[in-house]
Amino acid sequence: MRIGIGNDHAGVDMKKDITAYLEAKGHEVVNFGTDSYESYPYPVAGYQVGKAVASGEVDCGVLICGTGIGISLAANKVHGVRAAVCSEPYSARLSKQHNNANIIAFGARVIGPDMAKMIVDEWLNAEHMGGRHQQRVDMIMEIDETQNLNY
Ligand code: RB5
Repeated sequence: MRIGIGNDHAGVDMKKDITAYLEAKGHEVVNFGTDSYESYPYPVAGYQVGKAVASGEVDCGVLICGTGIGISLAANKVHGVRAAVCSEPYSARLSKQHNNANIIAFGARVIGPDMAKMIVDEWLNAEHMGGRHQQRVDMIMEIDETQNLNY
């Protein structure tokens, strides 16, 4: 897969670790955000990876900031993005199976590198279950596209 990865200053080390992990598994990783510890605004990286996912430049995305929250909030403002913040593998798996999350986010100040790898694995290996879950994802996207929900 072609995976976009982006981060702020809090996520530099974890990004390097996750990038090497994904590349060792044969994925192509496209780098966004910052490679410096200097303060860097997380909305920039969230936007960059969100755009890359929504446009099809990459198949999916990984976002890392201190908590995973700010960077996912920014990415979720891009039309077509469904970014999920996860701190453990169960939610990561369900974020794909039920919500078809196209970006996974986590906090470098919240979880360690081994947990981050488990989260990424669960999410990448899971498949969206479709059916009633697709109907709900369609409703999310209706809100995204129209700022309205006919229900
Ligand atoms: C940066 O200090 C921090 O606010 C950021 O990494 C993130 O946790 C925001 O949600």
